[in-house]
Amino acid sequence: MEKTFLMVKPDGVQRGLIGEIVKRLEQKGFQLVAAKLMLMTREQAEEHYAEHKGKDFFEPLVEFITSGPVFAMVWQGEQVIALSRILNGKTNVLEAAPGTIRGDFALHTRLNLIHGSDSPESAEREINHFFKPEEILDYKRDV
Ligand code: CMP
Repeated sequence: MEKTFLMVKPDGVQRGLIGEIVKRLEQKGFQLVAAKLMLMTREQAEEHYAEHKGKDFFEPLVEFITSGPVFAMVWQGEQVIALSRILNGKTNVLEAAPGTIRGDFALHTRLNLIHGSDSPESAEREINHFFKPEEILDYKRDV
């Protein structure tokens, strides 16, 4: 079954939106298989966002993502990588449609509440970056 890495960013944790975000993913039919509340170190943040190094928003992004706890998660389900990105909404706040997490709750392209892996390769890399294999649980769910 396909897996992806999703993370509620510090703005989402601070605004008390973990429950709302988890609810939307559960309602869609995805299964939560790992989760932890954690502080990202600068090294972790720079590695996680390595592809954006050199861009003007890189430093503010690292500052923001290390500013408070994040809620890191692994979700699984059919086409969870692409479908969860639709639930998240577009990165650019002006393009995030109502009904999506960002469209309903975010006002800023950087403070955009949630991160989701954009491909199978990044999902695997990001899951391994945040979780040990034994932290990802396999359990039966009938719905
Ligand atoms: P995310 O999906 O986590 O991937 C990269 C992050 O960089 C993105 O969400 C935003 O938080 C941030 N980001 C991307 N583009 C911009 C931008 N133009 N200005 C500020 N932040 C950005």
